[in-house]
Amino acid sequence: MTLPQRTRAFLCRRFTPAVETALQARFVLQVNEDDSILPSTEIARRAEGCEVLLVSATEAVDAATIARLAPTLRVVATLSVGYDHIDMAAARAAGVRVLHTPDVLSDACAEIALMLLLNACRRGFEADRMVRTGAWAGWAPTQLLGMGLVGRTLGIFGMGRIGRAIAVRAKAFGLHIHYHNRSRLDATLEQGATYHQTLDGLLSASDILMVAAPGAPSLRGTFDAERLARLPEGAVVVNISRGDLVDDEALIAALRSGRVRAAGLDVFANEPQVHPGYRELDNVFLSPHIGSATHETRDAMGWLLIDGIEALGRGETPDNLLS
Ligand code: DGY
Repeated sequence: MTLPQRTRAFLCRRFTPAVETALQARFVLQVNEDDSILPSTEIARRAEGCEVLLVSATEAVDAATIARLAPTLRVVATLSVGYDHIDMAAARAAGVRVLHTPDVLSDACAEIALMLLLNACRRGFEADRMVRTGAWAGWAPTQLLGMGLVGRTLGIFGMGRIGRAIAVRAKAFGLHIHYHNRSRLDATLEQGATYHQTLDGLLSASDILMVAAPGAPSLRGTFDAERLARLPEGAVVVNISRGDLVDDEALIAALRSGRVRAAGLDVFANEPQVHPGYRELDNVFLSPHIGSATHETRDAMGWLLIDGIEALGRGETPDNLLS
């Protein structure tokens, strides 16, 4: 693949200043200045004539958009590891290359996973609110008792790069690591974790379920009422993957009844909408999809995309090429 000397690029969201400066230096760049989430029809209109389309997980790059941009479009680069928002079959059919940002965000995402896990198990939302609202009347022997981690089992659904980064940190808290994956990892990657061939096997062993698999249409609704019922009574659920893997109604019902003790959620179906049932519950800790949100990580993600586009322009195959 080659790119013209004056490659035109459309940037759908505001990236970090360092990355935007680097993009300006390399491309004839149009920027969606107000950082709004653009519908796909608007992306197709505003990116017309561009060779490069820079998006994030908030932009749906569907078949119609790809078809409309196909006469010039060569690369879609997404500032995310997930790519469920891109119609990969349409991109492949149109000869459009797709880049994403694996690896560089694994540590940051694992940190947020642990933040959610700790806040869910140790009642972070209730504790914060008690202090902020002045409701705290002083230390008490039975106040805000939570679930300790030492000796418990963390079941990781999706033991890819992020899942493994979570496992390393979770072990330091005394958790036993179990996982379910499409296939078993080799021993060097597995690092002593227990593999479950079936998801049901993982669920029944998990005091804490960590949903860390990449988003994919085939995984939508995986954690429905039947699956959640396989968790031990009083288990904790954490989701840093994509909201649509979890059936909200089922999880809310389980949280209400106490069958699931608590949840920590960074991702939601139909973001930025959040099922109102979650807001009503004290035993849920919520964050607004901030897994990779550190200065260093967002810079590194941007650089990875720039390096990937440049490599493609030289006819090379960068490691972060999806198709
Ligand atoms: C990712 O990188 O996929 C994160 O979820 C941010 O979109």
